[in-house]
Amino acid sequence: MVNFPQLRLRRLRQSEALRTLVRETRIDVQDLVYPMFVVEGKDIKEEITSMPGVFRYSPDQLPLEVEEVTRLKIPAILLFGIPEHKDDYGSSAYYPEGVVQQAIRTIKNTVPELLVITDVCLCEYTSHGHCGVVTGNTVDNDRTLPLLAKMALSHVEAGADIVAPSDMMDGRVKAIREALDEKDYQHIPILSYAAKYASAFYGPFREAAESTPQFGDRRSYQMDSANVREALREVEQDIAEGADIVMVKPALAYLDVIKEVHNTFNCPLAAYNVSGEYAMLKAACRQGWLEEQPVVLEALTAIKRAGADIILTYYARDAARWLQEE
Ligand code: PBG
Repeated sequence: MVNFPQLRLRRLRQSEALRTLVRETRIDVQDLVYPMFVVEGKDIKEEITSMPGVFRYSPDQLPLEVEEVTRLKIPAILLFGIPEHKDDYGSSAYYPEGVVQQAIRTIKNTVPELLVITDVCLCEYTSHGHCGVVTGNTVDNDRTLPLLAKMALSHVEAGADIVAPSDMMDGRVKAIREALDEKDYQHIPILSYAAKYASAFYGPFREAAESTPQFGDRRSYQMDSANVREALREVEQDIAEGADIVMVKPALAYLDVIKEVHNTFNCPLAAYNVSGEYAMLKAACRQGWLEEQPVVLEALTAIKRAGADIILTYYARDAARWLQEE
């Protein structure tokens, strides 16, 4: 076996040209999905305090924003809605004139080629802030399923290209698939948040989406952060129910989970670089403690290297600019 001094691993690190030639992982703007928050109203563009650079937009503000996203060659966005009216059953979630439904129509009229993915979950729409119907003190799995199916269907009827259930109820992929197929939407893919952990990294999102649970927490439905074998069972189950793309969430603290899912299944894999992960880097960069461009590209590369094909990130716009100015 060749070894030092014949073998010198530094030989291939001498110049940017050599390093580029042997680089194992590349992130590309085509891999990115940009999450966006839509609020009811007009002329609204408000920055989220804990996520500088990320805004809540009223539907009328979207054309300008999605034109920019399209110019940057980002292929897809993920939509979250913040409704005016919340109730026990999250009925604004499946209202045909709901905020997300309006947003989808506006976006599709502006840039039809931009893929619109919608988050399917009741937590932003329920008065108690849980991801499903509450019976007593528990989130009732089976009573929630028809509502999620109804919500997904109403997004698709408004023009959504992909629906992404994030509620973590058992059986929701199947329920949504059946509801879509019944209305002849067999061609609409489901991106399932298959391994979604009960994570403290969602803090800033809950400010952005006004979706903090009013009692208790989400640990009775989202996964325990200590588990990885269970993530494989979740993914296996969702693929069996008809998921077309599966997701691990969060991303940076769960790179081992991404890797394990990537090694085990042949399904396209997404990873969600969540709000807290964005906020951490943003805060440190604002303090001058980290340099933003290299640290963000390094983090996104790590997610890809672990095995993600698709990366959902609030940094998508910045990353798209950085990746294309070189
Ligand atoms: C809805 C949902 C959440 C996120 C995505 N969809 C919040 C939660 O489960 O509490 C988090 C996204 C982020 O933190 O960026 N259930």
